Amino acid sequence: MDKKKILLNDEDIPKYWYNILGDMPTPLSPPLNPATQKPLTADDLKIFPNAIIEQEMTTQKEIPIPDKVREIYSMWRPTPLVRAYGLEKALGTPAKIYYKNESVSPAGSHKPNTAIAQAYYNKIEGVNTLTTETGAGQWGSALALAGSLLDMTIRVYMVKVSYNQKPFRKSMIHLWGAEVFASPSDKTQIGREILKQDPNNPGSLGLAISEAIEDAATHENTNYALGSVLNHVLLHQTVIGLEAKKQLEMVGDYPDVVLAPCGGGSNLGGIGLPFVRDKINGQNVRVVAVEPKSCPTLTKGVFQYDYADVAKMTPLLRMYTLGHNFMPPSIHAGGLRYHGDSPILSQLRKDGLLDAVAYNQTEVFEAGAFFAKTEGIIPAPETCHAIKGAIDEANKAKEEQKEKTILICFSGHGHFDMASYDTFLSGEMSDYEYPEEKVKEALQYLPKID
Ligand SMILES: Cc1ncc(COP(=O)(O)O)c(C=O)c1O
Repeated sequence: MDKKKILLNDEDIPKYWYNILGDMPTPLSPPLNPATQKPLTADDLKIFPNAIIEQEMTTQKEIPIPDKVREIYSMWRPTPLVRAYGLEKALGTPAKIYYKNESVSPAGSHKPNTAIAQAYYNKIEGVNTLTTETGAGQWGSALALAGSLLDMTIRVYMVKVSYNQKPFRKSMIHLWGAEVFASPSDKTQIGREILKQDPNNPGSLGLAISEAIEDAATHENTNYALGSVLNHVLLHQTVIGLEAKKQLEMVGDYPDVVLAPCGGGSNLGGIGLPFVRDKINGQNVRVVAVEPKSCPTLTKGVFQYDYADVAKMTPLLRMYTLGHNFMPPSIHAGGLRYHGDSPILSQLRKDGLLDAVAYNQTEVFEAGAFFAKTEGIIPAPETCHAIKGAIDEANKAKEEQKEKTILICFSGHGHFDMASYDTFLSGEMSDYEYPEEKVKEALQYLPKID
């Protein structure tokens, strides 16, 4: 029988996270203080614990994973690497397709890899309450899980459109003992201001971030945790790529192309950065971000300093951006509706070390439904993007009659996304391509720095 699942043992959970800051050919531009526009100091990052601030800045290539974090990881890690024989056969492709199944975590996605680490560092530094934002609800539920396992208080601001679309993510967050509010909410000043201007505002990740930061800044012994974008988040996610590389070695394989959905960039960074390290060292491998055409940050955005949130409370980050006041349409892949992107991935893209493609949501759901039929697992709408990218790569291999090894990050399952699948199945799903003119329009609101 051909090997379907490539499995590691508990002792194989990586002992180090991989930090690409020590290997990048172009060092990152420093984050800037939003008021002074001068490079940030550790003092500007007081909403994070010291260990996280250190990880955000260090160029040490290997960062030890604390034993307690590895112990919690062992609830679901190492995750299986699965060969998608069913999908390959249905496509009739000579390509081999592997998926790293991060949907086996208790929260159903890759997000707990960093939620556990962030909660742990706060806890050991004596902070017992964390606030955060969430788009599709995957990150909010991951932090709620971490809070439950480490006995901490968690408050989640969830983008209103997702809050309404995914009521059971709310239940999950409640079950793990955390609170969740629809954003914009009346809990914060920025939320109240936005609601006054537009009571039906659907919310955005940028706005939910502003609310969570304001909550942390105005309460004692309360820190903020971010689920994507920042260096330390991508760092924690590298367990995905480190494990996948080892698993491929076990079957004597190496990918020609690695694909992942990209919102703020954490699962793409997680699976991709250990392979980008190889690329920097001369290996022939492509790492590809897959994003929605309605929120095309890496394919249509500009590489400039911008705020990471709507209220301009966050540091200025040099990244690909559609503008901090970008209000994305209410697409179903809630976790991909973000105006910016990880500064690490943005710099790699600028340097030609990262590729990016964009798709419409209908074709993405078609790919997800095809995967569900051929491989059984129902992917999250975000994950469907990587699957669509992999199917296109496999079809290209078929046309060219070329062998190719494709690796994707199966970032999460879609068990809480049935309303979106119903819209797709009823033929009522529509597509929206973000117009070039709108990107140009947003540029006038970017801070003038470079
Ligand atoms: C299942 C899933 N995949 C991907 C993403 C995108 O986030 P990131 O780009 O940080 O991996 C999300 C975000 O919520 C998600 O829930």
